[in-house]
Amino acid sequence: MAILVTGGAGYIGSHTCVELLNAGYEIVVVDNLATSSSESLRRVRELSGKDFKFYQIDLLNREDLEIVFKQNKIEAVIHFAGLKAVGESVRLPLRYYHNNITGTLVLCELMQEYGVKRIVFSSSATVYGISEHVPISEDAPLGATNAYGRTKLMIEEIMQDMYVSDPIWSIAILRYFNPIGAHSSGRIGEDPNGIPNNLMPYITQVAAGGLKELQIYGNDYPTLDGTGVRDYIHVVDLAQGHLKALEKVMSTTGVEAYNLGTGQGYSVVEMVAAFERVTGRRIPYKMTDRRPGDIGICYSNPTKAERELGWIAEKGIDEMCLDAWRWQSNNPHGFQEEDNLLVESNIS
Ligand code: NAD
Ligand code: UD1
Repeated sequence: MAILVTGGAGYIGSHTCVELLNAGYEIVVVDNLATSSSESLRRVRELSGKDFKFYQIDLLNREDLEIVFKQNKIEAVIHFAGLKAVGESVRLPLRYYHNNITGTLVLCELMQEYGVKRIVFSSSATVYGISEHVPISEDAPLGATNAYGRTKLMIEEIMQDMYVSDPIWSIAILRYFNPIGAHSSGRIGEDPNGIPNNLMPYITQVAAGGLKELQIYGNDYPTLDGTGVRDYIHVVDLAQGHLKALEKVMSTTGVEAYNLGTGQGYSVVEMVAAFERVTGRRIPYKMTDRRPGDIGICYSNPTKAERELGWIAEKGIDEMCLDAWRWQSNNPHGFQEEDNLLVESNIS
């Protein structure tokens, strides 16, 4: 019996695959490599010392995906596959709705057909929209401010309906706060395409010299230093949260949402200071206007996950910064080998 991991070649998926393999699970990975590279999976094998099947398949392709269900005994699914760039989702909403929602529908239809009714789904704190109160609990009002966020919200609702129609379903909806950091080996990590939108990969690229300075989006929020506050969570803690959620869906039925965060907020200026302190690198920055759509303060109340899943985040911001920097400095071009870059630059 195997766990199907969709989007397993991506940032959070690859870290979760390592934890699953280390815990003795058999896994099958499906990914179309739209925003990732098979090199991450090669390194997952290297880190775990274990092998697994990989299908380079688009979830939108029902016939291809059905082969995976025919060829393997799937026990449960961890569903990471999706597009996640907020700005791009505003420009290309149909692409996001089609990829994220239709992809999930095809997956869930096949799960139903093959009698696989246990799923752990990657949602996001973005489903809380512009929340009025912190810390944010799972029963806070939901809302989304962009197409990406709406795909997560709609999928959550679809999953609620699936359970109502058939109470055999067992569904864990995981609402991630801000995943950062990397595996402590420095072999796998976040590999964004082009200039990063998110804070930590931007900081590490400034530290590496690829970007000149960080722009801090707004210093007039009602926070201790005026800069935005977020709940950063180490990606390995997050990965372990998936194993706990998997145990839960294996042993019960129902549909439940869980915050995966630390419960602790840090401002942008605090993150820069922590990064400088633990890495010894300087991060030049300048204050600029607020980024449209941003909120001032967002951090979780993670007690439901502790109570019901037995999970708690253990790693602090020093470790998050050190691990993010180790990954960046050991892999200046992400998963792309320098040899390939040389070949590409010779061609152009
Ligand atoms: P990622 O882009 O690194 O990984 C997503 C993976 O899904 C990629 O490998 C991509 O190739 C694959 N994929 C996308 N569409 C596919 C399709 N139609 N068929 C097959 N594979 C497909 O992103 P990540 O950071 O690892 O995020 C994983 C999940 O967690 C996503 O659903 C994302 O929305 C969600 N999430 C991420 C964050 C974050 O900050 N990283 C926060 C909240 C939620
Ligand atoms: C982003 C996504 C959100 C997603 C979340 C977790 C956007 C608009 N939102 O939110 O949907 O759920 O990641 O992955 O992309 N910052 C800077 N300078 C930078 C980058 C960021 O000052 O160059 C600030 C931001 O204003 C914010 C904080 O750093 O206060 C964190 O930003 P980011 O990493 O983009 O995460 P979120 O804003 O939480």
